[in-house]
Amino acid sequence: MRDLVVLKVGGSVLTDKNKSSTARPEQIARVAREIHEGLSGGLVLIHGAGSFGHHQAKEYGLKNGLNEKSIKGIWPTHYAVKSLNNMIIEALAKNGVNALPVHPLSACTLKDGRIDSMCTDVIELMLDANVVPVLHGDAVLDREKGIDILSGDQLVVYLARELRAKKVGIGTNVDGVYDVKEFNVIREITPGNIESVRGMLSGSSGVDVTGGMYGKIMELMELANAGIPSQVFNAEKEGNIARFLNGGVCEGTSIRGE
Ligand code: IPE
Repeated sequence: MRDLVVLKVGGSVLTDKNKSSTARPEQIARVAREIHEGLSGGLVLIHGAGSFGHHQAKEYGLKNGLNEKSIKGIWPTHYAVKSLNNMIIEALAKNGVNALPVHPLSACTLKDGRIDSMCTDVIELMLDANVVPVLHGDAVLDREKGIDILSGDQLVVYLARELRAKKVGIGTNVDGVYDVKEFNVIREITPGNIESVRGMLSGSSGVDVTGGMYGKIMELMELANAGIPSQVFNAEKEGNIARFLNGGVCEGTSIRGE
């Protein structure tokens, strides 16, 4: 069994979230370099949309289900996030990392916003061939709502479980999960402190179309209880991605099970 890592790099690290479809090429290049440096076993890379997708998803109301307006927004949203995906794969190739895209719009279905089915065979074959599959948050067809937005965070949890990953990394543009009252990073979340963590997070509100911190933490906690620990860390800080991948000390929030 290969040692598989599932890593998400948030859209805010790779793009300028304030300007529609604006990349941060120097950050994309650095992330690719660090992946090259840190890579040892198998890696599934997932990236967020940032300004490539959130703007379009909001403009066309893709979270409101399928209607005359949203149906016209599926392609522009998918096209935007796919352009970011191309840039990441190209940057990885420049660093000698073989990577290929897997687009959720064409590889999965949702039911009420949750993944209902996903073709993971292609991902497994890529991993067997030492290729890094690169997925992303996307507009995805939904059995109940018609259409919805699938976040990279949901993909992380689903794929880590399906592919029996060894660990999960969530790279964001902050130093970890914050206690919003004390304004410091919560170093460790375990079944023992998860209830008090809930209080520490209240007040934080998701500003993107797939937001919601406590829900995300609860999903990572469930994953940790199933034997897959995760680390939320600052992927903007030079060296953190490489350290996370090669098993070094990478500061942030550790989410560990029993
Ligand atoms: C959002 O994905 C996908 C679209 C809006 C198309 P994410 O929720 O994973 O993206 P970030 O990390 O917040 O940018």
